[in-house]
Amino acid sequence: MSKRDLYELLNQMTLPEKVAQLTQLATPFFKGSSKQGEITGPMAAMQITDEDIPNIGSVLGASGAEEIRSIQKQHLAESRLGIPLLFMSDVVHGFKTIFPIPLAIGCSWNPALAEESARVAAKESAVSGIHVTFAPMVDLVRDPRWGRVMETTGEDPYLNGVFAKAQVRGFQGDHLKESKEHVAACVKHFAAYGAAEGGRDYNTVNMSDRQLQEMYLPAYKAALDEDCKMVMSSFNIVDGIPATANQTLMNGLLRGDWDFDGVMISDWGAVKELIPHGVAADKKDAARKALSAGTDIEMMTDCYASHLEELVAEGVIDEQTIDQSVLRILQLKEELGLFENPYRGADPVQEEQIIMSAPHREAAKQLAIESSVLLKNDQTLPLQKSQKVALIGPFADNGDILGQWSWQGSKEDAITLRQGLVNKLQEEPLLAVGSDISEINATSLEQALTVAQQADVLIVALGEHSTMSGEAGSLTNIQLPQAQLDLLQSLAELDKPIVSILFNGRPLDLHGVIEHSHAIIEAWFPGTEGGNALADLLYGDENFSGKLTMSFPNSVGQIPVYYNHYNTGRPKGAPDAQVRYVSQYLDSPNGPLFPFGFGLSYTTFAYQEPVLSTDQLTSDRTLNLTVKVKNTGNWTGTETVQLYLRDLVGEVVRPVKELKDFKQVKLLPGEEQEIHFTLTEEQLRYYHSDMSYSSDPGDFEVLVGPNSQETVNTFFTLI
Ligand code: BGC
Repeated sequence: MSKRDLYELLNQMTLPEKVAQLTQLATPFFKGSSKQGEITGPMAAMQITDEDIPNIGSVLGASGAEEIRSIQKQHLAESRLGIPLLFMSDVVHGFKTIFPIPLAIGCSWNPALAEESARVAAKESAVSGIHVTFAPMVDLVRDPRWGRVMETTGEDPYLNGVFAKAQVRGFQGDHLKESKEHVAACVKHFAAYGAAEGGRDYNTVNMSDRQLQEMYLPAYKAALDEDCKMVMSSFNIVDGIPATANQTLMNGLLRGDWDFDGVMISDWGAVKELIPHGVAADKKDAARKALSAGTDIEMMTDCYASHLEELVAEGVIDEQTIDQSVLRILQLKEELGLFENPYRGADPVQEEQIIMSAPHREAAKQLAIESSVLLKNDQTLPLQKSQKVALIGPFADNGDILGQWSWQGSKEDAITLRQGLVNKLQEEPLLAVGSDISEINATSLEQALTVAQQADVLIVALGEHSTMSGEAGSLTNIQLPQAQLDLLQSLAELDKPIVSILFNGRPLDLHGVIEHSHAIIEAWFPGTEGGNALADLLYGDENFSGKLTMSFPNSVGQIPVYYNHYNTGRPKGAPDAQVRYVSQYLDSPNGPLFPFGFGLSYTTFAYQEPVLSTDQLTSDRTLNLTVKVKNTGNWTGTETVQLYLRDLVGEVVRPVKELKDFKQVKLLPGEEQEIHFTLTEEQLRYYHSDMSYSSDPGDFEVLVGPNSQETVNTFFTLI
């Protein structure tokens, strides 16, 4: 359909038909759904009439080719103008083949693999009838108390942007309309949802425009630069106004400065939440504010459906504003090819063949390998097959390793750690649970100790239940539950080597784990192939290359702790610093337990001093940096060489370092390679006091290394 055809279609639509396009409802509302009529809870209170349903624009959370085809068929039969429904769902890190959680995906530092994971997720969901995924989630995070840190790639604006682009490319491909294997992406949650005060979900966000622009916005922008089709607004306020009704954020920045002409959707119920936020008197007021700010689709509440017609009749809302939103939605339907083929990829036969196919599981395994992070290793790993292992702990044989956003994933399909070891060793390991996630009793502890006594090495699988992170999964205590710490302590008394493997969705306070473990693997929620991936890593058939993309704090009291902070006027450790009157805690180091970028390998890497092609950079000439990196150990390994910059004197304060680039290199034992980076003036730009975005002549430090703390450096001048 041409743009003109879309206008013609719009002109044929009545106002009620237009308004219904702007509403998104869950499957129970629709004929043809197996859940039809199961309308309970808040859904039941919605003022949606039987006449509204044939005109509704989109469906939330449907899946399955048969089901979606059936809903679409019934809908088209009843829709006066035959406008197909859009089916949208949360396909966040896999559909049925579940990949590691996004925080883990970030730790792979491998955008190509992240893109592949999104491509697989798109393929599986498209064949099951889905058109749009509510992903990527690119919120920058600094507070591990917030359960939703598991959904993002971490604390760095640049890295989050790289992964945002990779995921959008993977989901959407190059030819969305022709390709039935891709889905439209919806970047979320716009904006700054990750900065909830105290890490409490849905809480207030309070930050300067500078922080917003410099740290929080770049990843959303990166997704849009990759032609991401949709944006979801966040639950939080931005400068005092909920994002969903925020004119400056949406009409001003998103639609104005960034020229975004795609569909903007509210988060679940966020239009109605303008009432408890205290910026709307009632649902009618909420509808007026959200639509005027540019929210095209209202998800799962009925403010638009119940009040937009009235607002138009009263002259409060111009029908043209509604037309614009409807047109964007029709445009998306057109871009997905739905007017030609309303069933698009939905194909029950292919569903059987494609979903969880061997190549998909293989891709999930590879990402699980590359996203696990080795935090500690006193030469206990890799294990030898001749060693007798005991596998102990609540995650020893637990399929709850998919993470909270694995809606279609099934625990039964997940390879548990035990199964992974059996696949590797062809025999059952000694096994005992020892403790539940949060409870321990004398009998189970006794069993664990008995089993442990028979082994040469103990693999202790610990972690958080998947519901302890994710949405509404905030915690104030981010240590492992006491029951598991008690188990570990009792096992440590046996004086055997302990390998702790952690299954969890956030950076943890690892006190109680670190002192009793000879090796620690942060496995995150590794997804469907977790057990196989970990078995390969444990026995050295694969090497670790994952590196943290979110700092692990020393304690909750330190939070937020992140690498790209400002220096303060009284930095700790400065040559002339006083002992007391510096910015510090009396009872804790300032820095994290494990910094951004950190992760060990079975081998070691040595960095030489970086060499610059010249020590002067100009706006029209780039500067080349070369650093030699050598594998100094006995294993082949992949290193992520990280490049950071520091602006020594800014017009406003600048972070102590900022990631600007990284490269992965695979080196054989003893092999050395030169790694080349190109530095440009563009990388030195920042927001000035008048919020202009530019660079200043002056001196810069460039730091290169295996993580954000252990770096080698040199200097150059921008002239
Ligand atoms: C979440 C979103 C999600 C939406 C639809 C909301 O509660 O915040 O991330 O996309 O539900 O499932």
